[in-house]
Amino acid sequence: MAGHSNYVPQSAAAKWLESRLPVISLVRGSFVDFPTPKNLNYWWTFGGILAVMLVAQIITGVVLVMHYTPSTGAAFNSVEHIMRDVNFGWMLRYLHANGASMFFIAVYIHIFRGMYYGSYKAPREISWILGVVIFLIMMGTAFMGYVLPWGQMSFWGATVITNLFSAIPLVGEAIRTWLWGGFAVDNPTLNRFFSLHYLLPFMIAGVVILHVWAFHTTGNNNPTGVQPKTKQDTVPFHPYYTIKDLFAIVVFMILFSWFAFYVPNYMGHPDNYIEANPLVTPAHIVPEWYFLPFYAILRAIPDKLGGVLAMFGAIAVLFVLPWLDTSKVRSGTYRPLFKQFFWIFALVCVALGYLGAMPAEPKYVFWARICTAYYFAHFLIILPLLGFLEKPKPLPASISEAVLKGGSASPAGAVSAPEIK
Ligand code: HEM
Repeated sequence: MAGHSNYVPQSAAAKWLESRLPVISLVRGSFVDFPTPKNLNYWWTFGGILAVMLVAQIITGVVLVMHYTPSTGAAFNSVEHIMRDVNFGWMLRYLHANGASMFFIAVYIHIFRGMYYGSYKAPREISWILGVVIFLIMMGTAFMGYVLPWGQMSFWGATVITNLFSAIPLVGEAIRTWLWGGFAVDNPTLNRFFSLHYLLPFMIAGVVILHVWAFHTTGNNNPTGVQPKTKQDTVPFHPYYTIKDLFAIVVFMILFSWFAFYVPNYMGHPDNYIEANPLVTPAHIVPEWYFLPFYAILRAIPDKLGGVLAMFGAIAVLFVLPWLDTSKVRSGTYRPLFKQFFWIFALVCVALGYLGAMPAEPKYVFWARICTAYYFAHFLIILPLLGFLEKPKPLPASISEAVLKGGSASPAGAVSAPEIK
């Protein structure tokens, strides 16, 4: 990362520091002088937005903890106390709860951006895989965070999801007891979820550092998918992308504020304002919106173990995506067939989200099965075949050419040769 820095320490103090801990040149090389493709569009601002959201979640979370009590007898009331008695406690809580949803909105856009522009393809496989690791830890963190207010959905959501582990042959029951720390979702469960909910965001931060390191080693992808070839294809990260990212962050914060201050419970479930009661099961147990597509996949399979495998498989398949896509062309911009399948896939994911929110009635389960089959077919059949069947459009010779010619290749500069080495 530091390799890109043009920094030369001037003062004696700066020289002293640089020869002992070159942190200034590291930061300058990574976020000031870093050569960045000059054609990045607004879909590339979501990485920065995610970094800001991670920090916002950690700050609001650390302050919330100062007034929260992680025990089954006191958790619900301590959250009500935060909402009513703590100065600006309502704001902290709404920012944290809606912040989780905004984090997922941003991460889904970030993932789909990567899928459309082929950011997972060589040489960025590690950036992608670390991203999937982050996504997994994010899901674990959000799931355990939702249990903490100890409302009805907290309790029953935790019960449904932890019970899934009992489907594993032989050791399933033992694993479930081990997760619970007892024989039901109870105080030890709440305590360990609290402990892990506090720990995991810092692990995410650690993996994010590796993630950034990885794509700073390969260089960023860009909307053409063509690697920068000359200095003219890039600009320094600062001021060009610091300002562009900042603008996007401000727009995103306006949307975030609208949710947190005007409709703070829109993305939540009213049952979570009822204290957890192990003797009363809610009519419909639904997870938070960002888990719904995976919940639909879980319920689409008639067998419990099969459902659990399909649900985890839906995420596991992302790890091998770089090797499932056989196309030599990175960006969807130059892949006419892929582009259509990409949008069908996106629609199927939205449909799965809708179906996950519906009760498990036959007509919804039927459609959930079709969509689940399509979800896996996209990765396991369509993407591997497309690379052979599709005839990509000619690629621009360079980023500069694409920018100057309005995005398409000129016949003279067109390159039909494979882009991926
Ligand atoms: C806390 C969560 C995350 C943070 C803070 C984060 C941060 C970033 C940043 C700052 C960038 C560069 C700018 C951009 O491309 O938007 C980036 C790129 C990338 N991210 Fe993430 N990311 C996160 C999660 C993920 C996830 C979940 C995935 C995929 C499953 C992913 C895949 C990628 C890939 C492949 C790139 C690189 C290539 C490119 O320039 O196109 N990231 N990430």
